[in-house]
Amino acid sequence: MTTDKKIALVTGANRGIGYEVCRELADVGMQVILTSRDAAKGEGAAEALRRESKDVSFHQLDVSDEGSVERLRQFVQAEYGRLDVLVNNAAVYLDEGVSVFDSEMAMFRTTMDINFYGALYMCRAFVPMMRERKYGRVVNVSSGSGALNEMDSITPAYSISKAALNALTRVVADQVKGYSDIKVNTMCPGWVQTDMGGKNATRTPAEGADTIIWLATLPSDGPTGLFFRDRQVIEW
Ligand SMILES: NC(=O)c1ccc[n+]([C@@H]2O[C@H](COP(=O)([O-])OP(=O)(O)OC[C@H]3O[C@@H](n4cnc5c(N)ncnc54)[C@H](OP(=O)(O)O)[C@@H]3O)[C@@H](O)[C@H]2O)c1
Repeated sequence: MTTDKKIALVTGANRGIGYEVCRELADVGMQVILTSRDAAKGEGAAEALRRESKDVSFHQLDVSDEGSVERLRQFVQAEYGRLDVLVNNAAVYLDEGVSVFDSEMAMFRTTMDINFYGALYMCRAFVPMMRERKYGRVVNVSSGSGALNEMDSITPAYSISKAALNALTRVVADQVKGYSDIKVNTMCPGWVQTDMGGKNATRTPAEGADTIIWLATLPSDGPTGLFFRDRQVIEW
């Protein structure tokens, strides 16, 4: 399929911040691939956005399954021949209030598999494709919980997974720096009203999505390899 529109892909986009990001990337003129591990939920979400006249298609993706990521990579390569924007948004938050000494190791591994290895698989699949075209914007949706300077012990697995995601951001940004227009950044959306954030959260999904959209649409002289909240650099 040939199109002049930028092609954007969002992980974990059947609900929450990822869903809102799909809507807003479509609003700025991109063709959006909404992905979800549950096909029925993802199809439903994409269909709801199409009813709002957004240019959104669906593809199944479990980010923790390297084979699933590879099938998606092959689909994107065959269908579009490129990917312009990648938003690594999918995550789980499974250990609030559970001591690092008491949590199940299986929960720790699941958290790392989705929150860290999922983004690693996605970067390995899609950043080389971006490098071929010498253009790309990667936005890793992290959290203040992953900032080493303010890290506590409230959500051990989640916090460590987001710190690893931040480290991945630095490594990938450095790998592509200098010879192509690829920006790789990480960000915290703040406390957002979603299934993860809960009803008492202070921000709407649109407020949480704002910095993601800004990073996804950075100009060529924009920043790379940095950690943001509210469009401002924050400490690691
Ligand atoms: N909400 C907040 O206050 C807050 C604060 C800081 C950072 N964040 C970050 O913002 C991002 C979005 O969070 P949210 O609040 O929108 O969370 P959410 O409502 O819980 O949505 C999480 C999404 O990730 C998907 N997901 C989970 N495991 C997956 C897998 N293996 N493969 C593909 N998708 C998977 C979920 O799919 P299912 O529906 O199938 O479970 C869901 O679509 C996350 O990275 C989160 O860590 C959120």
